[in-house]
Amino acid sequence: MDIRGKVVIVTGASSGIGEATARRFGGEGAKVVLAARRVERLEALAQEINSMNTGAKTLVVQADLSKLEDIQRMINETLEKFGRIDVLVNNAGFGRLDWLEKLDPLKDIQAQFDVNVMGVIQTTRQALPVMIKQRSGHIINMCSMAGLVGTPTYTIYSACKHAVHGFSEALRREVEPWGIHVSMIYPGGVVTEFAQHAGIRRKTKATTPKALLLTADQVGEAVVKLTRKPRAMWIIPWVWTFSVWMNRHLNWLVDRATVNRFTIPEREEELKAD
Ligand SMILES: NC(=O)c1ccc[n+]([C@@H]2O[C@H](COP(=O)([O-])OP(=O)(O)OC[C@H]3O[C@@H](n4cnc5c(N)ncnc54)[C@H](OP(=O)(O)O)[C@@H]3O)[C@@H](O)[C@H]2O)c1
Repeated sequence: MDIRGKVVIVTGASSGIGEATARRFGGEGAKVVLAARRVERLEALAQEINSMNTGAKTLVVQADLSKLEDIQRMINETLEKFGRIDVLVNNAGFGRLDWLEKLDPLKDIQAQFDVNVMGVIQTTRQALPVMIKQRSGHIINMCSMAGLVGTPTYTIYSACKHAVHGFSEALRREVEPWGIHVSMIYPGGVVTEFAQHAGIRRKTKATTPKALLLTADQVGEAVVKLTRKPRAMWIIPWVWTFSVWMNRHLNWLVDRATVNRFTIPEREEELKAD
């Protein structure tokens, strides 16, 4: 697929993976719709893309993806300016990571579902009639390893990403006859502002080994590759495929290793107090 001139919506383009993805599409000469809440960041990125001399065009839409009216406005403004939607990258999202009982019912739990799940579903639903009419389109959903393997303190985030996984798989089988692709990408740890917003407090300091961490640009590059060659599922880096296999076939072993090496040391104080 030649990306030049294609209309690409990237949600969550104000930082991290979304920003890097939008920059990559700009480099390919696409018409890029940049959506998120922090509009000044989107405008700075739009300026950068416009000055790339690749023929890229931009549209900035300030949108809170937890609000249906903002999603509808984003789609309407895209159609008004560019007349079609070729690629929708559902990337906006965040995690709030803590023991379930410590997560705030609204600010942490409900809010994650509102953006990470409902935002993806509602945005896709608004874009779909346009793609069906075109008889073409590509929906790329930013999943996560958490959408395949559940880990402690990731309960809600993992539930959200499992929901995106199930949604995308079912949708892929619904829309294929219209010439619409649905691809899912499952990055492991990526160096972005994600951790800053997640509120992680870890005594064990257990985290993704540095060698396995991806940059936002590596994920952005992968998203552009997916646009050229749709794939139902793409786990990056590939080495995580091994943990997915372990989780499916040796679930008890993953349970034991996780509880002994992470949960118990992290919970130590609470267990002592009991
Ligand atoms: N970092 C990782 O390790 C990792 C791994 C796998 C998957 N992911 C996924 O990758 C995606 C991007 O995350 P990131 O790592 O790039 O984190 P990030 O740098 O914090 O970027 C998150 C983006 O989502 C946007 N966003 C959050 N809430 C929003 C809302 N209510 N409305 C509109 N936009 C909203 C933010 O924009 P505003 O705040 O300006 O609205 C920002 O642009 C997420 O779906 C995340 O779950 C991340």
